[in-house]
Amino acid sequence: MAEDAILGYLAVAEEIPDSGQFASQHGLHHNDVVNVIKSLHGFRYIDAQDIKRESWVLTDEGKKYAADGSPEVQLFLAVPQEGSISKDELQKKLEPSVFKIGCSQAGKNKWVDMGKQVSRKVQHVEDKVKDLLIRVQNVEEIGKDDVNSLKARKLIVAQTWKGYSVRKGPNYAPKRKKVATDLTRENLQRADWKELEFKEYNFNAKGPPAESGHLHPLLKVKQQLKNIFLQMGFEEMPTNNFVESSFWNFDALFQPQQHPARDSHDTFFLEAPSTTRELPEDYVELVKCVHESGGYGSRGYMYDWKREEANKNLLRTHTTAVSTRMLYALAKQPFAPKRYFSIDRVFRNESVDRTHLAEFHQIEGLVCDRGLTLGDLIGVLNDFFSRLGMSKLRFKPAYNPYTEPSMEIFSYHEGLKKWVEIGNSGMFRPEMLLPMGFPEDVRVIAWGLSLERPTMILYGIDNIRDLFGHKVDLSLIKRNPICRLGIN
Ligand code: PHE
Repeated sequence: MAEDAILGYLAVAEEIPDSGQFASQHGLHHNDVVNVIKSLHGFRYIDAQDIKRESWVLTDEGKKYAADGSPEVQLFLAVPQEGSISKDELQKKLEPSVFKIGCSQAGKNKWVDMGKQVSRKVQHVEDKVKDLLIRVQNVEEIGKDDVNSLKARKLIVAQTWKGYSVRKGPNYAPKRKKVATDLTRENLQRADWKELEFKEYNFNAKGPPAESGHLHPLLKVKQQLKNIFLQMGFEEMPTNNFVESSFWNFDALFQPQQHPARDSHDTFFLEAPSTTRELPEDYVELVKCVHESGGYGSRGYMYDWKREEANKNLLRTHTTAVSTRMLYALAKQPFAPKRYFSIDRVFRNESVDRTHLAEFHQIEGLVCDRGLTLGDLIGVLNDFFSRLGMSKLRFKPAYNPYTEPSMEIFSYHEGLKKWVEIGNSGMFRPEMLLPMGFPEDVRVIAWGLSLERPTMILYGIDNIRDLFGHKVDLSLIKRNPICRLGIN
């Protein structure tokens, strides 16, 4: 409708000087007219020039007075023609804001005597404010002084009005031609493409945003941790096997076969294949001996070690299984000190809650060298965690079957104002290292922590299911910010 009106008008007239006036003359919404102008302009049916005008519109308060009358007149009318009314009585008849403003304006205008009793000073008043507001509403001109006084009373505000003046464009036609957007097979068969008019390419149009992959917060934090380990001279261990034998996950770590962690309540065992294919037989023999009767100054656990138990396949419960394989391989070489790290997934048969899943990621670091002490472990931990932004650490004696001594690591959390446990650590036992074939004075210090815990803290996530698993909001994955560890 607006399109026909505009194109039709330009067929007989040179110009539409003002789209606003044009809209009201033709009973159209200005918005519709503007949209059509933009579209016709795009196809160069018309040329359009911007017009901007400052105009005045009523505020909400202004609109109220335009309908109900100004507060001063409302107050005046509430005062009786003869005699007087008490101020309290008068107040009850009016809205609080109308009463307050009415008193001051009617007093200023000398319409009423304001005392404890209020009486009229004049018999008739005109509501000039209301009249002015109605004129502004109807887009009529009002005087400069009137504008200023309405503005001062916050009854009107300035608004920029935008419209167009319009003339014929180079492609003008009284009716828009439908242009083809595609050359189809049918067009070619019918040969009507010769007559068709094709829409020009718009090289300025924006294409759809290109989709790309997005890094999960865990991957971002993992990358930062990798950088820290690499800066500290650590090499990454290959962690690409979720399935592990009990031997490498437990036995080689001097973890006895009746240890509760080796129960199916804690560990996921595999049904198929349920057992491992091969183990290094001479090393297995040494591990069996150290469990059963010790050696290297140890009494061992003094029980019957069973090969079937060691053969059972499981989903690795810690990445220390990988560290163990790596240390075993290292011990076969002429000795050289090493620093190793890994960050990968582990599995535990846990009941799932806000902070636990049956799978999570473990960060693990170890240093292998001659003559290392607990002091070295504490030093490395201070260095590592201060790079994560945690420089206040405390250590608490703990127990692991494969480390002695063992320490839980606590960090002071400035936000929570308390010490929170952040990891576990220790020195691998001689019962673990010596059967591998390491020289006697070689020590291995190691520590482990979860990747999820710091990630949840960094990204302000308090339910692990919002971070990992099928309930995760995809927009979190698409929009999560980068992670910089150790920088406040
Ligand atoms: N494997 C331990 C855990 O699962 C972590 C750890 C690694 C402890 C190395 C000591 C030494 O918690």
